[in-house]
Amino acid sequence: MNFADSEIVNSILLEKGMEAAHEADKADVVLINTCSIRENAENRVWNRLKELRSIKKENRDLTVGVLGCMAERIKDRIIEEEHLVDIVVGPDAYRDIPRLLEEVEDGRKAVNVLLSLEETYADIAPVRTTGNGITAFVSIMRGCDNMCSFCVVPFTRGRERSRPMESILREVKQLSDEGYKEVTLLGQNVNSYLDGENTFAKLMHKVSQVDPEMRFRFSSPHPKDFPVELLHTIAEQPNLCNYIHIPAQAGSDAMLERMRRPYTRESYLKLIERMREIIPGVSLSTDIIAGFCDETEEEHQQTMSLMKEVEFDLAYMFAYSERERTLAYRKYEDNVPEDVKKRRLSEIITQQMNIQDQRNQKEIGNRHLVLVEGTSKRSDEQFNGRTDTNKMVVFDRQDYTIGDYVEVEVTSATSATLLAKPIKKSSIQEYYSSKAEAVA
Ligand code: 5AD
Ligand code: SF4
Repeated sequence: MNFADSEIVNSILLEKGMEAAHEADKADVVLINTCSIRENAENRVWNRLKELRSIKKENRDLTVGVLGCMAERIKDRIIEEEHLVDIVVGPDAYRDIPRLLEEVEDGRKAVNVLLSLEETYADIAPVRTTGNGITAFVSIMRGCDNMCSFCVVPFTRGRERSRPMESILREVKQLSDEGYKEVTLLGQNVNSYLDGENTFAKLMHKVSQVDPEMRFRFSSPHPKDFPVELLHTIAEQPNLCNYIHIPAQAGSDAMLERMRRPYTRESYLKLIERMREIIPGVSLSTDIIAGFCDETEEEHQQTMSLMKEVEFDLAYMFAYSERERTLAYRKYEDNVPEDVKKRRLSEIITQQMNIQDQRNQKEIGNRHLVLVEGTSKRSDEQFNGRTDTNKMVVFDRQDYTIGDYVEVEVTSATSATLLAKPIKKSSIQEYYSSKAEAVA
């Protein structure tokens, strides 16, 4: 989400005649877009600010800004403690950055952390300067009304609001015209998307029609109200990826209740069953928190067993990090000792790595359609890209180019990557119609 937000800020600044400097020590203005989700994320920002301090010593005229969730959460502390910081801008105030930059020219500080009920930056075309020209994020809604007890997002990003569907479709069409091949639709809580009569399932159907050779992913839905209609749409449309990120957070009902996640282990497992029934071969990923308030060993084991039962293809796993203002902060105690949290998290990660390894071994011999995204980190002779099911694949580049859809056959696998041999260049329509014929 921050990546997408930075592209909006980019657009606002370029519009005002500014240019990207690429390196902090050559810039007149440095803006840091920040995340508050866990303490680690904020620590990274404090470290970055430390680095900037030495650059500012050399260049007294440098303007430094803190944008995003941290700006919203701790504006006073940033201004008071970090004399270095000149402007502080919350996630709904990016349009105001040019004015704020003018305001600080005489050495004052400038702050705008107002949250909005309407701002979606719908009319701003993000400028994508750091991507690969092939995959892009498109923001479809902002804010979150869910109030999970551990999460600071509703406080830093404000109330839910959806971007008009027409403006999303326009951006997708533009990306397709520019040669982009994959779009991930983004929102804190995509199931809540609503523009008049247009629900999230409708929106996904509409985007799938913009360009049959562009594929689509989305992040993140909530298990409490995942629309079953969307599962059918994904199953029917070849360019909607057979991959769903569906955050579970925990495996016991009591824990889900403390987390204010309004579903049960059983209803979550039922949803997973439906997903696998309606979209055969669907790949699933999740988010898990270890060591939330009052977590017992038994509850930890239930998280482990849920993950074992589902066998996710991928998981993002975190130790609980207490955030001020949240319900958990006010109502519960962050009382799982650090070493226990760490041990539980590492048990969760170890088990998940084994599951991923086993699932990926089963891929050997399978064919997939891979969208080539770039050169492999390990060798210039190899490309990497992802399957429709979101698995990272590495293969010899031969005469293929970035942006090609290549049919590959998996030859070996680790828990994180599939190695494959390329068969031939293909397209979404060609690949899936020949697959359908084979089944028939
Ligand atoms: N501590 C740890 N993890 C958190 N997440 C959200 N808030 C916290 C927190 N306070 C995780 C959740 C969410 C993901 C984006 O970040 O798992 O789904
Ligand atoms: Fe945070 Fe819950 Fe909203 Fe996700 S759904 S952003 S975890 S409050």
